[in-house]
Parts: sequence; C-alpha cells; structure tokens
Amino acid sequence: MSNQMWGGRFSEGPDALMEEINASIEFDKKLYRQDIEGSKAHVTMLAEQGIVTEADAAEIKNGLDKIASEIEDGSFTFSRSLEDIHMNVEARLRELIGTPAGRLHTARSRNDQVATDFRLWVRDAVDTIEGQLRELQTILVEKALAHASVVMPGFTHLQSAQPVTFGHHMLAYVEMLARDRGRFQDARKRMNECPLGAAALAGTSFPIDRHRTAGLLGFDGPTANSLDSVADRDFALEALAAASISALHMSRFAEEIVIWCSAQFNFVTLSDRFTTGSSIMPQKRNPDAAELVRAKIGRILGAFNALSVVMKGLPMTYSKDMQEDKEQTFDALENFMVTLAVMTGMVADLEPNVKVLKKAAGSGYSTATDLADWLVRALNMPFRDAHHVTGRAVALASERSVELHKLSLEDLQSIDDRITQDVFTVLSVDKSVRSRLSYGGTSPVNVRKQAKRWQSRLAREAK
Ligand code: ARG
Repeated sequence: MSNQMWGGRFSEGPDALMEEINASIEFDKKLYRQDIEGSKAHVTMLAEQGIVTEADAAEIKNGLDKIASEIEDGSFTFSRSLEDIHMNVEARLRELIGTPAGRLHTARSRNDQVATDFRLWVRDAVDTIEGQLRELQTILVEKALAHASVVMPGFTHLQSAQPVTFGHHMLAYVEMLARDRGRFQDARKRMNECPLGAAALAGTSFPIDRHRTAGLLGFDGPTANSLDSVADRDFALEALAAASISALHMSRFAEEIVIWCSAQFNFVTLSDRFTTGSSIMPQKRNPDAAELVRAKIGRILGAFNALSVVMKGLPMTYSKDMQEDKEQTFDALENFMVTLAVMTGMVADLEPNVKVLKKAAGSGYSTATDLADWLVRALNMPFRDAHHVTGRAVALASERSVELHKLSLEDLQSIDDRITQDVFTVLSVDKSVRSRLSYGGTSPVNVRKQAKRWQSRLAREAK
C-alpha cells in the first residue's frame, strides 16, 4: 500500500529499507505534546480567520486532546509506516473524527510544523536547565556562607600556590554558572520566534494570522522570513553550545571532587548517596557520580558537533538531513538535566574536612608570598628583592624539612637581619587569607559579602 498521507502519486509502498532510514517516529514521538499544542493553536487561528468552521475546529481540538491522553496512557499505537509524529497524530485524528481531520493541515506543512515542535521542545529544555543552574548556584552559595573562613590550599598547575577559603572556591563556580545561565537566557530570547505558517517554504495564500499562533504558543512573535523559518536549526545549535560550555564547567568541578575525595587528598567527604563500593576491594568508596558528571561533556559536545556537521553545506531550505537534528539533541539536553540534578545533590551533601584542608593549606610554603609582601611593607624592600629573600627562606625551610612559619627568627635573620618578630603575624594561613581583602579576593569578609549579594540576587531571580 502506498503511504496514506502523501501516497497519491505513488503506486507501490516504500521498500522496507526505505522505511528503516526514513522513519523518525521512534525518536520524534517525544514531540507529541508540542505537536498537539502546535496543531491546536494552528486550528484555533484557522477558525478565527474563517479558513475552517468553528465546528470543525472544535472537533479537531477534541480529537487532538483524545490523542494526547491516548499517548499518555499508553494505548496509542505508533506506526512506523506513518513515518513521524506529525503523520501518526493526523492519521489517528482521521480515524477518530473523519473528514474534518483533513482540514487541519490547511496552510501549513510538516516543514514549519516540525520546526515549531522542535523549537518548543528545546525552549522547554532550556527553561528547565536554566532553573536547574540557578538551583545549583543557590546550593553553592549556601556552602560558601557555611564555610566562608575554612582555609584550603589554592592551586595553580595543581601545585599549592596560596591559601584560599573554601567559600571562595564555591563562589568561583557560582560565577561560572552565572555565565552559563546568561548563555541559555540569551539563546532563549533569539529562539522565541514562531516558524508556524511559513508552510513548506514560501508562506501561504490563505489569510492566516501568524502573530496569533505565535502568541498562542508563547512566542514573542512570528519569524520574519519563510525560507529561514523552515531552514533554521540555530536554536538547537545554540542550546547545545551553551550546554557544552556548561557541561565543561561541570566536568572541571567533578574532576576536583574526584581528586578531593581520593585518600591522598581527603579534602572532602561525599555522602553515600553519590558513591559506590567495589565488589572486590571492601575499603573502596568510589565517586562514580562525579566521574559520570565529568564524562557527560563527551556526548553533549558530541551532539553539538554532530548537528553542526549535519547542517553544514545544506542549501535553502528544508532538507531531510534535518531530521537528524533531534535524537542527539534530546539525548544531550536530557543527559545534561540529569548531570545538573546529580551535581546539585552531590554538592548539597559534600562536607569539607576542615582540619585536613587547613593542614594542606599551610604546606608547600603557601605563605611565601605573604612573607615577600611583609618584606615590601615593613622594610620597604622592592618586590623583586623581597621575592629573592623569600626564595632563600623557602630553601632554608626545605633544607630543614619544616614549614615557613616553623623557621626561627634567627634563621630568618641569617638571610636578612632587618627581619623582626612581627613577620610571624603574616605567616599563618588564617592571617594570609584574612589579609586578601582586595575586591574579588579570598578573605572571609569578602566571601560573606559576595555570598549575601548572590543570595538576594538568586532569591529575586527565583520569582
Ligand atoms: N520527520 C520530519 C523531520 O523530522 C518532518 C518534516 C518532513 N518534511 C518533509 N518535507 N518530508 O524533519
């Protein structure tokens, strides 16, 4: 049998292989809600414009509602020979209400239909993700406030550099996530135009009201060019690009958590909720959740790459290539939602091991810069000279196998006899972080101020 929807000029049914490559129902059935919502908006507008009768529109809308509940309760039979979600829904509508079903597709095409459905799905996903990022920020700010003065080593090159506060470290991620949210918000603004009514590619001769359908579907307005409307998949690319950058941030954070909860670091304790044991080594507590979060960037960036390559070189306007836009976008954005939920749970449960962190913060001559700064301030030494003197103090401490603050005053005076007892006031890690009061610096005072600023901003944004 030839296809019931477009089979008019075909005498034979499609080859089985053709169906295999052509059918998208297995994955685009995920768009059923958007498809039905889009059809209801379209037929509402058609009736208002006198293009179909109010009676037909009412029957169509009832039928569509029935189909939505059939899909939701699992009684709907999806058919691969009907290719995609659009034709599956329309064929069922015909079974349910007969002739009026055929009027739904007036002044539209599957090209503008799929562009609208997919855009609605991506828009929902972006809204969900943006809210999840805000929630993760909220948890991070709570952690920052709770541990504003907990000292830990700050690293460059993964080598102890200078002591910092745990709260400051948490707030670094709050800033990253703010930029991620900005990218999603920005993408949303650009994607919020409705392609419905562009029809196949050229618009339609029916007196439709595209502003009305756009409004019914929560868009800011209709897209302005019918060719671009059916050819554009930037909205998905932008969402995937934003997700890739944000997943990259999650990967960095997850890597820190993996390092921090290794026995050698022991900086934090993860809850049992996000760790697993080993089937052979009873002592193990593996940070599987963090490792998986670290890995998710792979498929998310992969989806961005895949869709870019699919779209590359496509001439105006719609080409069937574009059916390959959906599967990986669904997969990537849904996986990212799980990633964010897991990260939020993990961070909420994560407890810094305060004593271990403090000891580590003082190791590796981490207050060497504080010594150099003291030499500049107290002795008016040029910084370059102070750097040199401090280097000699570090070498001496290393020779003695002690930390800087464990050198005696005599030891320090053997390097420069102008050094006084006062130097010891800057060599402790607590003094070190408290002195970092410059704007954006790590002092507990700064951390509390920034955390409070974020708290009120996030509370405002949650409304
Ligand atoms: N399943 C198709 C897709 O996902 C719908 C659009 C088909 N349009 C067409 N002219 N064959 O892209």
